[in-house]
Amino acid sequence: MYRHRRLRRTPAIRRMVRENHLNRNDLIYPLFVRPGKEIKEEISAMPGQYRYSLDRLDEELEGLHALGISAVLLFGITDKKDPAASEAYNDNGLVQQAVQLIKTKWPDMWVITDVCVCSYTDHGHCGILHNQDVDNDRTLEILAKTALSHAKAGADMVAPSAMMDFQVEAIREILDEENNKDIGIMAYAAKYYSSFYGPFREAADSAPQIGNRATYQMDAANSREALMEMAADIEEGADIIMVKPALAYLDIIAGARQNFDHPVAAYNVSGEYSAIKAAAEKGWLDEKQVVLESLTAMKRAGADLIITYFAKDVVGYLKT
Ligand code: PBG
Repeated sequence: MYRHRRLRRTPAIRRMVRENHLNRNDLIYPLFVRPGKEIKEEISAMPGQYRYSLDRLDEELEGLHALGISAVLLFGITDKKDPAASEAYNDNGLVQQAVQLIKTKWPDMWVITDVCVCSYTDHGHCGILHNQDVDNDRTLEILAKTALSHAKAGADMVAPSAMMDFQVEAIREILDEENNKDIGIMAYAAKYYSSFYGPFREAADSAPQIGNRATYQMDAANSREALMEMAADIEEGADIIMVKPALAYLDIIAGARQNFDHPVAAYNVSGEYSAIKAAAEKGWLDEKQVVLESLTAMKRAGADLIITYFAKDVVGYLKT
């Protein structure tokens, strides 16, 4: 008779038969850049995460470099908001300057930029409004211009997160036309309408002032639709497909892995981070073990890459 416990007897044999592993090369660290000088400001709903002014970004990059984390996902925060999100594609905007700075000083760092307009519109929606509704096709132009300005600044990859139909196609087209054929697209392919983004909205000052994002982000009850979204993004030219959030959507990650051969990224979002942090602060959960268990589950589900606010902690855990 087969005895399952034989292969669980000691740490050595457990390590030998372990099927999935976290690796620091899989980790992408989100970074928030804000206006001002000499600012490193903690995000209150995300203890341990900060918004940096440009002149303080360096110290964070130095830390990431020392840890061997080789990819960042950049988010910009601005005080120049308008209905048309015009600051999003300002070639001298904050994100554009941050990309330039990082690629000049840390050329090996793989720099991905979030391409959305929710931090740049005065109403906080991920697109341009027309008759109280987000106008998909008018938004495409803005997203394309934004992606191009990030590419011109030196971004290695852009990550469109607005959930507009055809956003990947619009971006791929403009990048190709403007001599940026090598710039990749990590598509937020299956991005759900989720309350797990709560802390991020504080971090990026991007909460919608009226209504919500349910007309463009996916309904949490749907899984077949996620496969349609992924297939569309691949058809439009996505290099990496992302599922977001991660923990409550492991089945979607597994579906991505089973149905497509593109690399799959999981976004371990702000609410997943903050919930663990809060419980750990109260002494209710063992932070290290819960983080390792959660992120390993994402790998087990099929994620190749994990975007996580825990990236730096994980590198530390892997060393011990
Ligand atoms: C921008 C964007 C959001 C997140 C990533 N890009 C917020 C949203 O869609 O409301 C969420 C990230 C997180 O919660 O960590 N559209």
